[in-house]
Amino acid sequence: MARQKFIAGNWKLNLTIAEGTALVAALAKGLAEKPTKAEVAVCPVALAVAAVAAAAKGSPIGVGAQNTHWEDKGAFTGELSPVLIKDAGAKYVILGHSERRQYYGDTDALINKRLGAALKHGLVPIVCIGETLAERQGGKLEQVLKTQITGALAGFTADQLKTLVIAYEPVWAIGTGVTATTAQAQETHAYVRSVLKGVVGGLADSIRIQYGGSVKADNAKEILSQPDVDGALVGGAALKAPYFLAIIAGAG
Ligand code: 13P
Repeated sequence: MARQKFIAGNWKLNLTIAEGTALVAALAKGLAEKPTKAEVAVCPVALAVAAVAAAAKGSPIGVGAQNTHWEDKGAFTGELSPVLIKDAGAKYVILGHSERRQYYGDTDALINKRLGAALKHGLVPIVCIGETLAERQGGKLEQVLKTQITGALAGFTADQLKTLVIAYEPVWAIGTGVTATTAQAQETHAYVRSVLKGVVGGLADSIRIQYGGSVKADNAKEILSQPDVDGALVGGAALKAPYFLAIIAGAG
C-alpha cells in the first residue's frame, strides 16, 4: 500500500512568534519553487501555533501542536486543549514525545487519554515512541516499543485510528547527532508495523511511521528510502528553512 511520505518539523521550545512566521513563510516560498509529493507540517510552540497557521495559509504546510491536555476546558491552569489547538488553525498534534515522557511525567496511560482527545476533535495524532540506549543494549527494544504502542492505542478501534501517525524516535538519537543506521531504522520500523498489525489489523499497512532522531539533509534521503520509513519528525534541522527544505526534497 502506497503511503504518502510525511515530513514534520518539531520546533520544540525554539523560535519566537516572529521567527516562526518568518520560517514558515520561507518554507512556503521554497515549496512553491520546488513542490514536493510529501505531506509537510511544522509544530511550533503553542503560543505561535495561531500565527504560524495564519502565515501558512494557502501553502501546503500544515501546522501542529506539541502536546494536548485530554479535557476540552475547565480548571486546568497552564494546560492546552484540543479545542483551542483546532481553533488556532492546527491540524496535527504530537503526543508522547520522549522529552514529555522524560521531563513531564507522560506515561502510556496519559498519552492514551491525550490521544482520545485528539481523535475526538479530529486532530491528526503523531504518537512518539522510542527506547533509551540502555533499553536497546539490554535487549529490551521490542518489549519497550510494544508496551508503548499497545498502551497508547488501548481501547481504540482501527476505524478511530485511521489518521494515526507513529514517530519512532530512539531516545539516544535525539539531538545527539547519532542517527540510527538505515538498517536499524528499517528493522525497527518493520517491527513497529508488525505490532500495529496486532492492534489494528490491516490498517497497519496504511499507518505512516516517521523516523526521528538527528535527521539531517545529508542522511534524510537514505533513511527515507527504506520501505517502512514513511517520513521524518525533525528537531534541530527543522529550524532553518534551507535544511528543512533539503530534508523534504529527500522525500522525493
Ligand atoms: P533532533 O532532530 O534534533 O534530533 O530531534 C528529533 C526530535 O526529537 C523530533 O521530535
